[in-house]
Amino acid sequence: MNKSIPNAIERVLLDEETITARVRELAAQISADYAGLDDLVLVGVLKGAFIFMADLARRLTVAHHVDFIALSSYNRDAVSTGAVRLIMDTRTSVTGRNVLVVEDILDTGHTLDYLVRTFRARNPASLRTCVLISKPERRQVKVPIDYLGFEIPNEWVVGYGLDYADRFRTLPYIGVLKREVYE
Ligand code: IMP
Ligand code: MG
Repeated sequence: MNKSIPNAIERVLLDEETITARVRELAAQISADYAGLDDLVLVGVLKGAFIFMADLARRLTVAHHVDFIALSSYNRDAVSTGAVRLIMDTRTSVTGRNVLVVEDILDTGHTLDYLVRTFRARNPASLRTCVLISKPERRQVKVPIDYLGFEIPNEWVVGYGLDYADRFRTLPYIGVLKREVYE
């Protein structure tokens, strides 16, 4: 199937090869860090992290479980309200287990901050975060990132799981959305 660059995309920011190489590095680092540990649970944040999660998990050389959580996200306007709502919880308990939260993108930080506070309250053996993309300029809340893929400027990006109004998620690269699409 030919996935040509849609009209709404300003430019490709991170191409497939660049993403693949970085995901491989992150997976190697995580595999090394968790080598001696039991019971690693990856918790992917739906929907945005589903592709990153699948690629990352398949490159891990340590045993792990996969689970997901779903939160409310932005609506059509690309503006954060800071309000986060849990839509779907994990299937299994995280208590006493080594939890790694896998998130697509860190913008204001409210979403990950909410997740970290929520999981910490459940007493996991350990809790770390793995984020593919960070937009540091936009941060409102300080959140710890243990594994980070890329830092990018303050632009709306789509593809590789990331959307705008639920569109563009399955583009194989990460591209910058034209401003006129979301302004
Ligand atoms: P935060 O709570 O402001 O850090 O926002 C995190 C969430 O906002 C992410 O999980 C995404 O769902 C969404 N988001 C923020 N920036 C972008 C973007 O550039 N493209 C797509 N989604 C984004
Ligand atoms: Mg997300």
